[in-house]
Amino acid sequence: MENKQQWGSRLGFILAAVGSAIGLGNIWRFPYMVYENGGGAFLIPYFVALLTAGIPIMIMEFSLGHKSRVGAPLTFYRINKKWEILGWVQTGVSAVIAVYYVAVVAWSFSYMGFSLSSAWGSEPADFFLNDYLAISSGPFELGGLQPAILLTIVIAWFFNFLASYGGVQKGLERANKILMPVLILMLLVVVARAVTLPGAVHGLEILFKPDFSKILDPQVWIAAYGQIFFSLSIAFAIMLTYSSYLPKKSDIVNNAFMTALLNCGFSILAGIAIFSIIGFMEYQAGGTLPEKMAGVFLAFVTLPSAITQLPGLNALIGVLLFLTLAFAGLSSFISINEVVVRSIVDKFNIPRRKVSVYYTLIAGAVSLLFATGAGLHILDMVDYYINNYGIVLAGLVEVILLGWFFKLSSLREHANLTSDFKIGKWWDVMIKFVTPLVLGINSILKFINDVQNNYSGYSTAAQFVFGWGLLAALIVTAVLIARTKWSGLTAQSEGGL
Ligand code: ALA
Repeated sequence: MENKQQWGSRLGFILAAVGSAIGLGNIWRFPYMVYENGGGAFLIPYFVALLTAGIPIMIMEFSLGHKSRVGAPLTFYRINKKWEILGWVQTGVSAVIAVYYVAVVAWSFSYMGFSLSSAWGSEPADFFLNDYLAISSGPFELGGLQPAILLTIVIAWFFNFLASYGGVQKGLERANKILMPVLILMLLVVVARAVTLPGAVHGLEILFKPDFSKILDPQVWIAAYGQIFFSLSIAFAIMLTYSSYLPKKSDIVNNAFMTALLNCGFSILAGIAIFSIIGFMEYQAGGTLPEKMAGVFLAFVTLPSAITQLPGLNALIGVLLFLTLAFAGLSSFISINEVVVRSIVDKFNIPRRKVSVYYTLIAGAVSLLFATGAGLHILDMVDYYINNYGIVLAGLVEVILLGWFFKLSSLREHANLTSDFKIGKWWDVMIKFVTPLVLGINSILKFINDVQNNYSGYSTAAQFVFGWGLLAALIVTAVLIARTKWSGLTAQSEGGL
């Protein structure tokens, strides 16, 4: 299975990488992260994280994948047998993200349909929480399965299955070649409409006005790093996996810069669209800001209410908004699943198509948890812990291992060999010193804070099961899988590091 599959063209790879990066993280997460973490002031840690960690790690993962030409566990195994565990932790993080990510993609599909008739009526919050989600009283109260969510979850898995089963060129590349141009076009239409609404400018002021009191808060720094990692699809093995399908003579550095900058440009544009709409709502309400703007509520309560208030073309703009969210989510969802499929193919030597089928069935079944009344509670907690700890710590361990216990300069040389422009020693400094220091210190401070205060008021039992317990389970599972024998590729096969 070693790299028989590869991208058909440079554009195909870039579209897939950008398709992975641009996702729910840009449209659904980025605007409220900025808003909750100091407005314009958040952009400082955000850009610091992008330049000192995001782009350098992306270059590192592109080089590593391109050099090893296999998935994350085998890549790390080839460097040092024990490091295989990191590969499985990252694969596990992807698997966990996949099962809740699909729920948000599914909600977007549903809301696309609801937009046609403004089905949420005059109480979008009540509609979302009670009619649509049938939310239960807490994460341990599952309640029944909601058929409407179940249906769209199945649809999302089906699209993913087609891409996964089709393989790299006929599946992943083809899907992104359709999804990405349409997505960018749709976003531009939405932005054009949003910024011309009355009150839009004030919305942008809300988004970008800096609150400098937050700039020294470790929570804000971890939020910025977590957002960059999630948004760029780094530290949970996606970019490593995608770049393992690059042909031998491929640019690395320029591709990484393009992917990262396109992704962040998209986030800023999405933020502008969403907050222009919020400014419009504030204007309509005579100066009062909409209430529910945090987390999922921004997309599924605030936006629907704005769509109803638009002066015209409500259904069209609604469909476009939610289709943008669904398409962005789908192309990322495909990449998240690819990590798991690739890691399993490598380790157990099972044909890709077979893995696609079984993985879809098993992960699909698990994701139905998010079609229950407890779905939103669980999603909220899992998303928090996976981003702030799972991804961030996997990223931290990755930079420490590769920076300090591996000949990092060999990756720089590898990247420079085939790239349009070359990276210098600054890159080593970012990976070896800057990122581990900033991330290490802030992670410790954040951990102390989180142990003292339960996240979002959930019970301690819930934090243990869906937060700390989940993280512990990921590590234990990774160790157990790493202990099993390789039945497929081994350290001896081509491309050793
Ligand atoms: N990078 C993907 C996103 O931003 C996972 O949603």
